[in-house]
Amino acid sequence: MKRLIGILLLLGVSCGEPDTRTVLRFLDRPDRAGGWDEVIAKFEAANPNIRVELVEGPSSTNTREEMYSTAFAAGDTTYDIVYMDVIWVSKFAAKGWLLPLDDRFPAAEREKFLPGDLQGGIYEGKLYRVPLRSDAGMLYYRKDLVENAPETFEDLVEAAKKHQKPPDLWGFVFQGQQYEGLVCAFLEILWGHGGDILNDKGEVVLDRPEAIQALTWMTGLVETISPEAVTTYQEEEARRDFQEGRAVFMRNWPYCWKLVQEADSAVRDKVGIIPMVHSPGQKSAATLGGWGFGITKTTKHPDAAWKFVSFVTAAEQQKTFHFKNGDIPSRRALFEDPDMLKANPHWPQLYKVLLAAKPRPVHPKYPQIADAIQSSVSKALIGQQKPDEALKEAAGKIRRILGR
Ligand code: GLC
Repeated sequence: MKRLIGILLLLGVSCGEPDTRTVLRFLDRPDRAGGWDEVIAKFEAANPNIRVELVEGPSSTNTREEMYSTAFAAGDTTYDIVYMDVIWVSKFAAKGWLLPLDDRFPAAEREKFLPGDLQGGIYEGKLYRVPLRSDAGMLYYRKDLVENAPETFEDLVEAAKKHQKPPDLWGFVFQGQQYEGLVCAFLEILWGHGGDILNDKGEVVLDRPEAIQALTWMTGLVETISPEAVTTYQEEEARRDFQEGRAVFMRNWPYCWKLVQEADSAVRDKVGIIPMVHSPGQKSAATLGGWGFGITKTTKHPDAAWKFVSFVTAAEQQKTFHFKNGDIPSRRALFEDPDMLKANPHWPQLYKVLLAAKPRPVHPKYPQIADAIQSSVSKALIGQQKPDEALKEAAGKIRRILGR
């Protein structure tokens, strides 16, 4: 109690008196590793007039996107700042829910960030999001088992079959549940087969032969080199299997590296990372992910909000998030930072993957486009629809969404 009173007095708040601090609120997934706790406490100590409230929501990006959208569409002013997936920016900006940040975020400062992350915050020439963490999909593999890292889809299946011992050790785990992670995993397979959702002219090409080949390959994984349960996996289910030594390969994001190397991990020092495999003659592709901050149009505290946004995206906080949560920084300089390099000997390879990562379609209706893909890919994966029929349906929906 004494300590609590001490803290309150320190904050200039005596018992019984209302807390007059400006409150800044945002939504994110639960703060399991404690990164937010540490960073928010530090910010509040340096800014005694501001209190930051993290509303802990579900782990799926789609669900949090819907929660923010529902609040904004209803004119609800709960949130002052928006912790945004790169794929939300176009929709949120087009709806007029965000403040442009161009005046606050000068060119000299922008140059310090990875180009894809920065680009992902721009909509129709204006900047709405400051990147905090970068992300790109990649393959983790058991280097103690696999002698030659695979390059092609065929190599991957062959190596997985050779080393797996189902049901205790499966060949390949990935995000197979019907949600955004499935779109990310599918896109890497699609791009690696030379396919795409839209071509350079903006035409929908998701029902072309390359795409059918990609989805056919993907559906063939289930119960061959992937457990049936993979169709219910998000990132964490895949990560747990791999970390507990129950998978030879895993498609996931870079945050897993820190966790799979922890002292109690069954695969510590047995893990390698490589770019996603591809078809002969095609190139590997990684889906660009990543998170950053925007400020809501309706906030009554844009200056306080900006103070927080510039504080959390600074190098020091990005390092905290890395060491606590395994998050990948969005500032280029941190890829040459001695502390970061010491902890991450694999960073030169990771940096290359990040620089080459491809964005998902940038469109205000992206959530609808993604819905169509999720639903069709999922139906094919669980055997409810054939790959060609599933893609025909998704392509048709996307053409209607885009009015083509
Ligand atoms: C990661 C990525 C994000 C992506 C999500 C899918 O959080 O950073 O961009 O949408 O995974 O689950």
